[in-house]
Amino acid sequence: MEKGIRKIGVLTSGGDAPGMNAAIRAVVRASVYHKLECIGIYRGYEGLIEEDFKNLNARSVKNIINRGGTLLKSARSKEFFLKEGRLKAYNNLKNEGIDALVTIGGDGTFAGASVFSNEFDIPIIGIPGTIDNDINGTDFTIGYDTALNTVVEAIDKIRDTANSHNRLFLVEVMGRDAGDIALNAGIGAGAEEILIPEQDMGRLRLIESLKKSKKSGKTSSIIVVSEGDQIGKNIFKLASYIEDNLTGYEVRVTVLGHIQRGGSPSCFDRVLASRLGVKAVDALIDNQKNMMIGIRHNKLIYVPFIETLKTSKELDLELIRVADITSL
Ligand code: F6P
Repeated sequence: MEKGIRKIGVLTSGGDAPGMNAAIRAVVRASVYHKLECIGIYRGYEGLIEEDFKNLNARSVKNIINRGGTLLKSARSKEFFLKEGRLKAYNNLKNEGIDALVTIGGDGTFAGASVFSNEFDIPIIGIPGTIDNDINGTDFTIGYDTALNTVVEAIDKIRDTANSHNRLFLVEVMGRDAGDIALNAGIGAGAEEILIPEQDMGRLRLIESLKKSKKSGKTSSIIVVSEGDQIGKNIFKLASYIEDNLTGYEVRVTVLGHIQRGGSPSCFDRVLASRLGVKAVDALIDNQKNMMIGIRHNKLIYVPFIETLKTSKELDLELIRVADITSL
């Protein structure tokens, strides 16, 4: 092992995601395993600036693998965008003797980490944690699988009532810039239509498609709308538009909201988080910096922060085709 690193700081930042606790646990226990100290930094970069630190040992992270949210709490820090804020953060790290950081979060977290690491030469390794699954360079992010299961379970329930009343439901799911949740949960829940930000279907085509499916004998419909979708931008307006242009259906709206961010993580997310956490500590010991640990074809890989920040992942056309065919 390189002599450099003795004390690792770990933080969670941005929107919380189920499985973040499992990742914290893995980072702490991997640090203990390698005889390194581990410091928990509370409230993300806010806590770094305000020196909100706590020593963590193997027992500090007991009984959290099954819990949603994040033990370390999370925040979206405005002060960290400013040079003065980052300087305070750096001085606090030095005072505490923290040599390196593991940051768990999404693209905003990595953007901050990248600037900070370059400015002060602090080794930082990122772990992708967001329900949106919108980070370049990794097939999956922590929390995404759990969120999908939450959405599918909710839509299954909505389907029961939609079917009983011959209604059309618009179900809004999270995903500010990415349609991954809408597309995959939509297929999993058997939705008639899926509206995502990456593809503008247009209102006219939507109505045509709904008319066609009604003609084919369907008596109820589920439309999954990603919150970032252009035509679904205001889902209540879209509901009125559909009611005005399509006869025979009563329309109802359900916004799933933050329910998608909570809950006990799925086994997939727990295992993913554990693997990424252990690998993040390995990476720091291996003198890696400015990298995210990603997963590609079930193998852990290093992805430079700069690569993770590229805008929008490619749309999976095969999934779109599957959605079209299976909703006939
Ligand atoms: O990035 C995760 C996410 O849940 C997005 O899907 C959503 O748009 C956003 O966070 C909501 O953020 P907040 O909890 O700050 O309202």
